[in-house]
Amino acid sequence: MFKKLSLAALTAIGLSTGAYAAGGEAHVEDYSFSFEGPFGSYDQMQLQRGLKIYTEVCSACHGLQYVPIRDLSALGYNEDEVFAYASQFEVWDPELNDGDGDFRTALPTDQFPAVTSANAPDLSLMAKKRAGFHGPYGLGINQFFKGMGGAEYIASLLHGYEEAPECAPEDFPGNYNTVFTAGGYPPSCLNEEGHHTVPGSWIGMGQPLWGEDVEFDDGHSNSLESEVEDVAAFLMWTAEPKMMQRKEAGFIGVFFLLLMSVLLYLVNKRIWAPIKRKG
Ligand code: HEC
Repeated sequence: MFKKLSLAALTAIGLSTGAYAAGGEAHVEDYSFSFEGPFGSYDQMQLQRGLKIYTEVCSACHGLQYVPIRDLSALGYNEDEVFAYASQFEVWDPELNDGDGDFRTALPTDQFPAVTSANAPDLSLMAKKRAGFHGPYGLGINQFFKGMGGAEYIASLLHGYEEAPECAPEDFPGNYNTVFTAGGYPPSCLNEEGHHTVPGSWIGMGQPLWGEDVEFDDGHSNSLESEVEDVAAFLMWTAEPKMMQRKEAGFIGVFFLLLMSVLLYLVNKRIWAPIKRKG
């Protein structure tokens, strides 16, 4: 019975993905990030490059309001560098000016500024928000089996801009992106059942990275391919700065569970030993 049911379920999933793909499923690339897998960890230099890209390009529109600036010390910056980084931002302090509030230079204890442009979502947690969007119907299957998460989504999204397909009228607003699925479609790109016939959809954000958008002091590549990975890794860090500690805690937990299993096994043997010997 159970076998039959699961077979039916599997077939259903298989069939539905087939149907979905026919409508043009967005393709999220499977990047291999340093922080993937049970032993993976963040690459500090990559996070520093990502921060630079965020600061020079993305922060024009996007905020990171849940990230304290002092956390940048985790990227390998010393106190002075974090202080200097903070001082480029202005924050609103409600206590200044006799309680009327005023702007002042940001300190490491402040958060990154909030959203700066209308409609541009805050990016602090975006990498986690979009983590489960892979695989059929956002079941998170690709995340589970291939370790693909929000960082893959963001890198693919930034790389997913293409010329609008022929079905779209030239004046359709937005930018065609093969990875973005939450946007709108021109009616001419829908079939009779209302399903879209092209992968992706139209996004309000114009292509932000083109390659060579920033210069790195150490001469590291600033190709588009490399930039999208760097900024995606950085946004994974903002969304989950304690990923390494979480993995470590997991290992310690598993270690103690194993230890307890061994002890229980030995205790069990000892308790039953006299009875077993009789038989
Ligand atoms: C000119 C302003 C602007 C810049 C610069 C910009 N963005 Fe955006 N971004 C937007 C807007 C507006 C949206 C919302 C688009 C929509 O929902 O149609 C958006 C949406 C997003 C999303 C969410 C997509 C989703 O699945 O909902 C991500 C991720 C993102 N941007 C990342 C970036 C990164 C990384 C950079 C820097 C490399 C960047 N953006 C630069 C304006 C901008």
